[in-house]
Amino acid sequence: MILQKKSFDEYYEPAEDTFFLAGCIQNEKGRAALDIGTGSGLLAQVLSDNFELVVATDISLDALKKAHKTVKNCICCNSADALRCSFDLVVCNLPYLPSDKVADSAVDGLEEGLGIPTGIIKSASSVIQKHGKLVFLTSSLANYNELIRRTESLGFAAKIYAKKKLFFEELVIVECTKL
Ligand SMILES: C[S@@+](CC[C@H](N)C(=O)[O-])C[C@H]1O[C@@H](n2cnc3c(N)ncnc32)[C@H](O)[C@@H]1O
Repeated sequence: MILQKKSFDEYYEPAEDTFFLAGCIQNEKGRAALDIGTGSGLLAQVLSDNFELVVATDISLDALKKAHKTVKNCICCNSADALRCSFDLVVCNLPYLPSDKVADSAVDGLEEGLGIPTGIIKSASSVIQKHGKLVFLTSSLANYNELIRRTESLGFAAKIYAKKKLFFEELVIVECTKL
């Protein structure tokens, strides 16, 4: 995660983490997919190649103004709270930086980089169908083992799918299947 993240329009510009996650989800296929915290909408665009329905949410209206230029179904809400449909796949490039408060919602994850991600995953778990998948990106800067444990306690089988070393952190992609 690069610390120069937002443009004047206040959305997260696609960065190394975005492209790493995009590469990992580009061959996923199915009926319905959800990109939580879509930012510029790039991950939702990638999903739209292989899914009939793609929905993108973000807590930032500025981000959705950008995403809506290329993504049809954009919803401004916390995680998946406004949704009542079920998805085969949910992806999220989480705001994972440990922080005392949320000064920048694009990156700040609260204590150990767990507070915001745990809330996002809890909400996501209610819209993922049985045997559906959740794929999220976190980092060695966060307590990702604890996040995996919390995800498992929500009824998922979770495993580390890929890691990528950057100069100052290691990006971690976790793949979870709803049991
Ligand atoms: C690290 S950025 C990732 C943006 C984009 N998906 C990408 O990969 O480039 C995290 C995004 O999550 C959004 N976000 C943070 N907390 C959220 C929440 N509780 N619900 C929905 N979106 C949230 C932020 O506004 C931001 O756009």
